[in-house]
Amino acid sequence: MKVAKVLISADEIQAKLAEMGEAITRDYEGKNLLMIGVLKGAFVVLADLARYVRLPVETDFMAVSSYQGGTHSSGVVRILKDLDEEIEGRHVLIVEDIIDTGHTLKYLLRTLAVRQPATLSLAALLIKDDVERPHFDIQYEGFHIPNEFVIGYGLDYDEKYRNLPYIGVMDQTSTSSPTDVQEGFKLAD
Ligand code: IMP
Ligand code: MG
Repeated sequence: MKVAKVLISADEIQAKLAEMGEAITRDYEGKNLLMIGVLKGAFVVLADLARYVRLPVETDFMAVSSYQGGTHSSGVVRILKDLDEEIEGRHVLIVEDIIDTGHTLKYLLRTLAVRQPATLSLAALLIKDDVERPHFDIQYEGFHIPNEFVIGYGLDYDEKYRNLPYIGVMDQTSTSSPTDVQEGFKLAD
């Protein structure tokens, strides 16, 4: 695997999350905020974003899987791990790593809205442009990116590279070798 290019550097990610954290701090002052990370990808962004929020937030996680039918995502989503907490009457903020087709999110928003939270908002670090999907109000947006496959900062290729501190575009023409992967990690410096 090679990282073809660094799309968003570690410093740029942190600066953006700091801004998003400031906005969340302002908006939820005096409210009990529950931040929900969508596993696995959002574990990194939730960990960093939550630390830029200067309020006593609670955190919880949900794991879902989208079924892929051939080359097209079927839009069928299944809960693998539900929330530990009840959310009725709570101020809930869903934290997503990336919004691609929006299938996962559409399902999540519908499922969580039924549980009657006081408010239900959305923070996403990455939003892929030029993808047809339902409209969502995204209250806290990170970066709009081209419709390319990206890795790092929580996002995986074959379950790897979630721990790269930057967002990279993968060179899908090269074959995997341990040396190339090391190069990808070195790019982070
Ligand atoms: P959606 O349901 O199509 O919006 O996709 C949501 C999930 O697909 C994300 O939470 C990621 O796990 C995965 N995904 C979408 N695009 C990418 C990508 O470019 N790289 C890695 N994972 C991705
Ligand atoms: Mg994935």
